[in-house]
Amino acid sequence: MTPREVLAEMKLGEFVLPKGIYMWLFVTLLHRDTDNWGPDATEFKPERFANGVSAACKYPQAYIPFGLGSRICPGQNFAITEMKVVLTLLLFNFSFDVSPNYRHCPVYNMLLMPKYGVRLLVSKVLNTPK
Ligand code: HEM
Repeated sequence: MTPREVLAEMKLGEFVLPKGIYMWLFVTLLHRDTDNWGPDATEFKPERFANGVSAACKYPQAYIPFGLGSRICPGQNFAITEMKVVLTLLLFNFSFDVSPNYRHCPVYNMLLMPKYGVRLLVSKVLNTPK
């Protein structure tokens, strides 16, 4: 969730927001809104981002994994770069399969996470030097 304090009374659509209240943006709901993402909004489909966020949904400004505005996450570029490096190294050296013992049970616990963990079968890939 992303909290914001209303610094001056304002109108937001049909709502009048009085000065001094706190607004909580429930990002999990925004990112699973079928009006924006389509009927498969809750499915894990990373390929929906293949052509960028704008092609993945109707209102890209409602996709805010790192927040928005002047308090946007300053670690965003670092986190994305780090993730790309780690994923590249892992995928270059290993192949992954989901274990037949995996029980699919996503739970919301501050973050969306697998209740029983994710068991993977990991094999080393033999990369031949060129
Ligand atoms: C996948 C990784 C990360 C995610 C999803 C993430 C997400 C977020 C979100 C949603 C916020 C709130 C933004 C807002 O209120 O609009 C935030 C704030 C912040 N993040 Fe991250 N973050 C990540 C990694 C990092 C890293 C690696 C750093 C530092 C190296 C970092 C430092 C911060 C700081 C200092 C704030 C507070 C900014 C402020 O209030 O002005 N984050 N982050």
